[in-house]
Amino acid sequence: MRTQVAIIGAGPAGLLLAHLLRRAGVESVVLETRSQEYVAARIRAGILEQSSVDLLTAAGLGDRLHAEGHPHRGIHLQWPGERHHLDFVDLTGRSVWVYGQTEVQKDLVDANTATVVYEVSDVALHDLTGSPHVTYTSADGTPGRVDAAAIAGCDGSFGPSRASVPGQTWERTYPYSWLGILADVAPSTDELIYAWHPDGFALHSMRSPTVSRLYLQVPNGTDAGSWSDQRVWDELATRLGHGQDGWKLTPGPITEKSVLPMRSFVQTPMRHGRLFLAGDAAHIVPPTGAKGLNLAIADVALLAPALTALLRHNDPTLADRYSDTASRRVWRCTHFSWWMTTMLHIGEDPFDAQLQLSQLRWVTSSEAGAAGLAENYAGLPIGF
Ligand code: FAD
Ligand code: DHB
Repeated sequence: MRTQVAIIGAGPAGLLLAHLLRRAGVESVVLETRSQEYVAARIRAGILEQSSVDLLTAAGLGDRLHAEGHPHRGIHLQWPGERHHLDFVDLTGRSVWVYGQTEVQKDLVDANTATVVYEVSDVALHDLTGSPHVTYTSADGTPGRVDAAAIAGCDGSFGPSRASVPGQTWERTYPYSWLGILADVAPSTDELIYAWHPDGFALHSMRSPTVSRLYLQVPNGTDAGSWSDQRVWDELATRLGHGQDGWKLTPGPITEKSVLPMRSFVQTPMRHGRLFLAGDAAHIVPPTGAKGLNLAIADVALLAPALTALLRHNDPTLADRYSDTASRRVWRCTHFSWWMTTMLHIGEDPFDAQLQLSQLRWVTSSEAGAAGLAENYAGLPIGF
């Protein structure tokens, strides 16, 4: 089959790109290894920056987001004995929204603008500087081929696109992971709580007025099954300060429990010939600060107009700038995610703990410190 853009991966980056291209009059075909149900059910990110909300709204994907999403003015930052609220709206004029990646994915599927071939295997990219095409095997075992003027690698951190781009990679692994739970219980907080604690970091997030999402710092290699529900709630209560100034953490039935490793990874350039990388295919951030999904959306916000100009108007200017423009934001978010991670997680060295506490006191007491965190968390404008 022939199309204008072959998109590899039907996660948020791939489906949003297909949606934006369709609205701009550019046809695409999306290839995805997993089933539609599997992709829809993956529990991942939960926070959208203002610019992600603005982009989804402008793309006609904002109806449910505005009806069911929850704007938050900021976050709580805490350590034993102290909790401080940072108000991003006061500090930067921008807010963030609680709206799960599962919901963004559902809105993209419901928009029905993408032609997606699910459950393919053996995906391989060919002739990226000549006549680009992608080969694959369909779910029924028949071989397939998509010829396209451009290929978008939106296939996440384990897909084949990344390896097709010669360039440089940078990587940092962290000596801890997150144990994440989803629970059928009303959140015990109005806005997210990021907690520094000598036993390890904890985060209280949420998905809706009846569903909470919480995380605990755990050692790498932790088996989620080795943590009983009772132990998870006890540890969350300790680290989040149950009883502190009368605050209470209400436990409830846990519906999902998993361990997430933490990694920073950047690959540049984000382009080789007619192949363009977007989202996790080009970069991974540790989750502290909720940047992964937002960064994928920001890449696609640049890539869609770049491919439109290239394919509809034969104008390569934006496509030629894509990698440099996108990488600037990638490195900003990579730094911010690393900074939030290293400020909040407990390591081996007690000297680091004192520096972390000093940093937390500064960020919560100086308007300049708070504004720096707020500007990065609520997100810089797309194109920065
Ligand atoms: P993905 O969502 O990974 O989509 C890539 C798609 O490509 C997948 O559907 C995959 O099945 C498909 N694919 C892979 N290989 C192939 C192939 N060979 N051929 C065709 N298709 C292929 N971010 C946050 O901000 N906050 C969080 O709390 C958070 N939690 C996370 C938890 C987990 C377990 C993970 C993995 C990520 C988390 N993230 C979080 C990061 C965030 O979810 C990602 O940044 C976001 O999903 C990136 O979107 P994407 O479309 O680039 O990649
Ligand atoms: C969530 C995840 C994050 O990494 C974060 O910083 C905030 C919220 C979440 O899954 O809700």
